[in-house]
Amino acid sequence: MKNICKLDLKGKHFINLEDFTPNELQLLIKEAQNLKSKVKSKEEINLMNNKIMVMYFAKPSLRTRLSFEIGMKKLGGDAYVLKQDEIILGKRESIEDSANVISRYCDLVMIRTFAHEDIENFAKHSKVPVINALTDLSHPCQIMADLLTIKEHFGKLDGLTLSYIGDGNNICNSLLVGCSMLGLNIKVGCPNGYEPNQKYINLAKKYAKENGTFVEILNNPENASSNADILYTDVWTSMGQENEKEMRKEIFKNYQINNTLLKNANDNAIILHCLPAHKNEEISEEVFDKNANTIYEEAENRMYAQMAIIKNICC
Ligand code: CP
Ligand code: NVA
Repeated sequence: MKNICKLDLKGKHFINLEDFTPNELQLLIKEAQNLKSKVKSKEEINLMNNKIMVMYFAKPSLRTRLSFEIGMKKLGGDAYVLKQDEIILGKRESIEDSANVISRYCDLVMIRTFAHEDIENFAKHSKVPVINALTDLSHPCQIMADLLTIKEHFGKLDGLTLSYIGDGNNICNSLLVGCSMLGLNIKVGCPNGYEPNQKYINLAKKYAKENGTFVEILNNPENASSNADILYTDVWTSMGQENEKEMRKEIFKNYQINNTLLKNANDNAIILHCLPAHKNEEISEEVFDKNANTIYEEAENRMYAQMAIIKNICC
């Protein structure tokens, strides 16, 4: 595919990373870097001309809620949050009707919910672009911020190795796609039966083949973390799985990122965590504290990555 220098994504939904080309994702990351330096130098960015984003959350959120709302305001737009006591998508009326109505009032919709199909279905009937702010299947906005953080730290993405240790969940699925699209090797270390979604493994292998990189799904945290430039983890119990919490603590107990596991990674390896973190479960408190600066920067980068997405699909 021919590389382009200018993005033309107006009107496009941001639901799956694989709906974009690797070149488009790279340009979005570059744009996020530009917006970050503008925000840091307190430059006024008036691109959204009072455009309105409606945000819907079926699950809790700290980072996504604030980084989207404040990011939209920094772009000169505004945001309205629909709360669970106002509407439960698909309950009082069909998702089709909600999408048709909500999208007549605003310029952009952001949705965090359980079933991925519900966002796809909403987008099909929406008159404005829709952003996936996490489903049970994926979390593409988080991965854009992660890739931005990695690029800032190493000055490149190509040829690095990211090791994800833990549950093959929404974060892991999106990391598989994002990393393999942008030239990183990716290794996943997870217990048997907790592997990522097969569709995402296949997609990642396809991109890796095109890029000359590799994808490995292993049931051994030591092998999975060897030679890592980036060690990444997420909670063992995702939102909606709370009744499995104790069982999962037992199943995942050998998949903690701690000083012992860290010895397998490269000396200059960084640790990433999408947050919220459960310290002394998926990551030891000591390792978290030593790497807190990078992890908090990763959280901050959510805002710039999303500002770049909003600017390009909505302007
Ligand atoms: N990482 C992330 O999406 O955080 P929140 O659940 O707080 O939005
Ligand atoms: N896997 C986690 C990610 C939170 C940002 C969850 O879905 O709860």
